[in-house]
Amino acid sequence: MARGVVVPMKPNVKPNVVRPRRKRRASSPAAKSVARSGMTRKELIAESRRWLSIINAHRLNDYKRRKIVTDTLDNFRLYYNRGYLEYRKSVTQGGEFAAIEWSGRGSQFEDIVGRKYIDCLGGYGIYSAGINHPKIVRAVKSQLERMPLSSQELLDPLRGALAELLGELAPGDLQCCFFINNGTDAIEGAMKLARLYTGKPGFISCVRGFHGKSYGALSLMGKGEYRLAFEPLLQDTYFVPFGDAEAVEAELRKAEAVGMAISGVVVEPVQGEAGAIVPPDDYWPRLREVCTRYGVLLIADEVQTGMGRTGKMFAVEHWGVAPDIMCLGKALGGGVMPLSAFIATPEIWQVLEPNPFIHSSTFGGNPLACAAGIAAVNVTLEEDLPSRAAETGTYLLGELQKLQRRYPDHLIEARGLGLLIGLEFVDTEFGYAVAAGLFKRGVLVAGTLLNAKTLRVEPALNIPRPLVDEVLEKLDDTLQDLAE
Ligand SMILES: Cc1ncc(COP(=O)(O)O)c(C=O)c1O
Repeated sequence: MARGVVVPMKPNVKPNVVRPRRKRRASSPAAKSVARSGMTRKELIAESRRWLSIINAHRLNDYKRRKIVTDTLDNFRLYYNRGYLEYRKSVTQGGEFAAIEWSGRGSQFEDIVGRKYIDCLGGYGIYSAGINHPKIVRAVKSQLERMPLSSQELLDPLRGALAELLGELAPGDLQCCFFINNGTDAIEGAMKLARLYTGKPGFISCVRGFHGKSYGALSLMGKGEYRLAFEPLLQDTYFVPFGDAEAVEAELRKAEAVGMAISGVVVEPVQGEAGAIVPPDDYWPRLREVCTRYGVLLIADEVQTGMGRTGKMFAVEHWGVAPDIMCLGKALGGGVMPLSAFIATPEIWQVLEPNPFIHSSTFGGNPLACAAGIAAVNVTLEEDLPSRAAETGTYLLGELQKLQRRYPDHLIEARGLGLLIGLEFVDTEFGYAVAAGLFKRGVLVAGTLLNAKTLRVEPALNIPRPLVDEVLEKLDDTLQDLAE
């Protein structure tokens, strides 16, 4: 199969055709287009067995691979969310052609029909150690065979061990942590902890900030398009421009004057989802000073920036600041398991101790995730991933800025810190065309039809230099094509 080129399925395999299952009569015309097949118990067993044989197969022939493409499209259309078929650059013409993710290693992955891609998205920041890092996979496999999840009654050693590693690694007096499975839940936990400790309900967050999409985290969301349909959210949240410590102070002064009770200021060290926006150098030191002066907790959302992404283990270390609570996620699970954490000082943590079940999670801190987390910490330190992010990031950003100077009418800015890089284009359409053009050439970066004015480039921190150069060449080629 030609490398990096999206090709149609074989003509004799008709795309978009639902498998010939027994149809139930749909109740309305609207429901008809999404009517399920009405499988019997026997058919369900056969279907699950078929997928198990695919999961467990060492090899798949071409026919089976192509069938997985059509099955996946059908399944997304009928049972998951067909909206995905319209907006992704990996699915074109409403699902006529699709790249189906299948396997990967390091900074490269393959789709089901064997097309190869360079991964410059890193699963939006989860693959800091690369895809399928052997040491992390080995730890998880070993733990899987011993005991995958925990009783939640006995004490499990890996939870304690990972807490120790993070408690020793974290800046300042941050020491005690709680584990969950995604960044959003880390934020939820941090918000509850801040309220419990301060006894105050309010939060300050930043315009264009992103902290997750459940109700608490969504209340801190600095983008109207994600919030509006769910208003009213938590009432006591206030927004200030990112990078402006004056504005935080003004908000706190106002709150004090009118008796509004603020418990914490929640900020990303570098705004990720907003497009890799790096604040001025005095921002974090001033935030620290202002929060201390007003008796408000400083909460750093390091879900995306943590574990070396920006060139330091934690991004706040660029500015020598220790927050009161820090949230981690994404790369914490080594790109193998979902894992997140919030971590605070013992002084703050003591409010959780009288009743440790006041905040709990069935799967949070499970042995598989903790095995992955322990291995991720080991790999991050042993391979010095933060320094590699700093080095490669400086090189890549420098080259991208050269490209920016060559295409100033289309590429407005290349910016970032370490390997959290944003490319801002003249508009969403152009950005999407660049993301799609790169994808066609076998390079994955962020950017959907809805959100592509700024593309994020977030490769593995250990991406080899020749791959970086290949990406730069392909970006140049894409820009040249589109600029013409
Ligand atoms: C800074 C930040 N906080 C929180 C989240 C939410 O994390 P998750 O999607 O794992 O819940 C994200 C996700 O992109 C993020 O970038």
